[in-house]
Amino acid sequence: MKILITGAQGQLGSSLATTLTPLGTLFAFGRAELDLANMPSALRTLERIQPDLIINAAAYTAVDRAEVEMELAYQVNAEAPMLLAQYCSHHACALIHYSTDYVFNGQKDSAYTEEDEPDPINVYGRTKRQGEVGILESGCPAFIFRTSWVYSLTGRNFLTTMQQLGATRDELRIVNDQWGSPTWTYSLARATFAIIDSLAQQPSLLKAIDQHRGIYHMSNQQLTTWYDFARAIFALAPTTARVTGIPSSQYPTPAQRPAMSGLNNQKLKDHFDISLANWHDALQECLQNT
Ligand SMILES: NC(=O)c1ccc[n+]([C@@H]2O[C@H](COP(=O)([O-])OP(=O)(O)OC[C@H]3O[C@@H](n4cnc5c(N)ncnc54)[C@H](OP(=O)(O)O)[C@@H]3O)[C@@H](O)[C@H]2O)c1
Repeated sequence: MKILITGAQGQLGSSLATTLTPLGTLFAFGRAELDLANMPSALRTLERIQPDLIINAAAYTAVDRAEVEMELAYQVNAEAPMLLAQYCSHHACALIHYSTDYVFNGQKDSAYTEEDEPDPINVYGRTKRQGEVGILESGCPAFIFRTSWVYSLTGRNFLTTMQQLGATRDELRIVNDQWGSPTWTYSLARATFAIIDSLAQQPSLLKAIDQHRGIYHMSNQQLTTWYDFARAIFALAPTTARVTGIPSSQYPTPAQRPAMSGLNNQKLKDHFDISLANWHDALQECLQNT
């Protein structure tokens, strides 16, 4: 099986590139090899390689910058996934795409299910939702895995930011009224591996993906706040900085964030018998690797 991964130098993309190796021949492409802002060239690359499966881990992920770079965010998060899906519809190729908890407005008081109506409150969330719709409307065999609060030991994310600030600041003031589930890239990569591996046992992977096509929530389990996530990080990797919880109103950002963006993963369990680890266990395993 030929698997093409986009965004292979991103946090999730690089975890996928390491984890999925046993599944077949991997083409792990960063932006230099496959640029989603230059789709004519990207589509020529696909025609040359003829992958059986495209895993789109590339995205415009700068949530605050997206408020001003709307066009680029739209191109990468909305238009490109739609064109990848259209490519798959016209070739014997399936698509795995990742989306975000930020498609929701955050007003619910419990974790969101796939049945809940998206209502993004920032540009990033809107472009990611447009990407989902473009894929669903293409009718191609595709999984859209919505995830949340992604981190790893590399790249710019909450964990690496806390590690850096914890080493240089005396005090850290962290938002304590946004709820979600921190998700380790290797939890996502392992779950993605397990799903492909089990469906690849069937006579046609393409048909197997088509039978289950749609959106699935995929995150580490249990909810927390950014403040408690920070405290958990520093309990495992101590800092001398004082860590204080603050309301979002004291930390204004260009893009609004949903107050609640937990994802209910029951559908993933029902279809594939897969549950990701509790977020705290995943964090512990991640930090043990340092
Ligand atoms: N990060 C989160 O907290 C979070 C939360 C929920 C969902 N997600 C979703 O999870 C997926 C993986 O995100 P991540 O956290 O791994 O993000 P990431 O670390 O920012 O990686 C995204 C990758 O996409 C690449 N990229 C950006 N523009 C591109 C383009 N025009 N062509 C090709 N590649 C391009 C980036 O390359 P450069 O480094 O060159 O820019 C980067 O390597 C995304 O779909 C994201 O929306 C992320």
